[in-house]
Amino acid sequence: MQNRVLEIAASVIAKSDRSHPADAVLRTKLRKQKSLPPEQSRETARAVFAYYRWMGWLDRRQPISKQLRQAVELADRFQHEPGGFSSEDLLAKAIPPWTSLQVNVTVEWIHALQTEPKLWLRTRPGQGKAVATKLGDCQLSHTLADALCYEGTKDLFRTPEFQAGEFELQDISSQAVGLICNPRPAETWWDACAGEGGKTLHLSDLMRNQGLIWASDKAEWRLQKLKQRAARAKVFNYRTALWNGAQKLPTKTKFNGVLVDAPCSGLGTWQRNPQARWTTGPQDVEELGTLQERLLANVVPGLKPGGRLIYAVCTLTRRETTDVAASLQRRFPELQPLIATDPFGASPPSAHHWLWPKVTYGNGMFVAAWQK
Ligand SMILES: C[S@@+](CC[C@H](N)C(=O)[O-])C[C@H]1O[C@@H](n2cnc3c(N)ncnc32)[C@H](O)[C@@H]1O
Repeated sequence: MQNRVLEIAASVIAKSDRSHPADAVLRTKLRKQKSLPPEQSRETARAVFAYYRWMGWLDRRQPISKQLRQAVELADRFQHEPGGFSSEDLLAKAIPPWTSLQVNVTVEWIHALQTEPKLWLRTRPGQGKAVATKLGDCQLSHTLADALCYEGTKDLFRTPEFQAGEFELQDISSQAVGLICNPRPAETWWDACAGEGGKTLHLSDLMRNQGLIWASDKAEWRLQKLKQRAARAKVFNYRTALWNGAQKLPTKTKFNGVLVDAPCSGLGTWQRNPQARWTTGPQDVEELGTLQERLLANVVPGLKPGGRLIYAVCTLTRRETTDVAASLQRRFPELQPLIATDPFGASPPSAHHWLWPKVTYGNGMFVAAWQK
């Protein structure tokens, strides 16, 4: 590793903590390094993420540059010979001990967490092959129709295809959430935690830009980003509203479907975002589980009779998945569990979907569905 790469990676790590996530610090840092060749930018990013992914193996008394080298060596070794690491070691060092109180921890999951994540794109319906040909270095997903795995080195945001709205960067498991929602063109949907609109844009594509989607979030700046993305993607069948999860809903409209893609502890993103393993704790899980219960309970009055409610989280903790689903069911016994096909075809149709990385090759997620 070049000294410059080591130096930048070390300074990113020094500035990163719970309130300053490493991926954001890294992005800012790399943006300022105008003369850094793209290859070295990629190496820097790889070193930073390897550091957090392999932190349990590092000798923390060593200088950070030495730890970074060691982390990259471990990542290389794992990539070439994953079987060379004992299961006991992986289970003990890759994640904090409290995780096993909340997650059905398996060696397969840990193997996924220690592997570098894939980069997934979602194309407009039916455009997978055409976009793959234009971009090059793409693999079509074997499971989801419009998902592509990008393996090249281009800055995708600068490609004419991205600028023209021909694809979005969206994790394959998140794409499965839109498919479970399965909205139809003339329907009215509410994407209650729409954020920057990853799923709003997918819902719109599935609705062929028809019907209407209310996209709400508590963060105004995220909705501003959503509007920019929607403009680029030529998505028009939506409107935005601020909503902070309170009982008072942003509209009196009743919906055919409500998606609550809830704020969560994010354990399902620990492969992509390994720093979070060391900054997230059981207290976050408890607080977020309580928030999710509140958000779900508050959206129920917004459903039409027969309307569908979809609850999605990119985490795998019991408290935030099945416990929340069970608590909603107790509170609203009139909600019927809604059986849907597993988009990956790996499990029988169900009202609860566990999307594990070893099956999806994407983030870990949980999705539950009901009908009013
Ligand atoms: C998992 S993210 C949503 C990602 C988004 N659906 C997408 O696909 O790009 C959760 C979102 O919930 C929002 N949020 C957090 N607390 C909230 C609350 N109390 N009320 C409404 N939204 C909230 C966050 O601002 C964040 O955008």
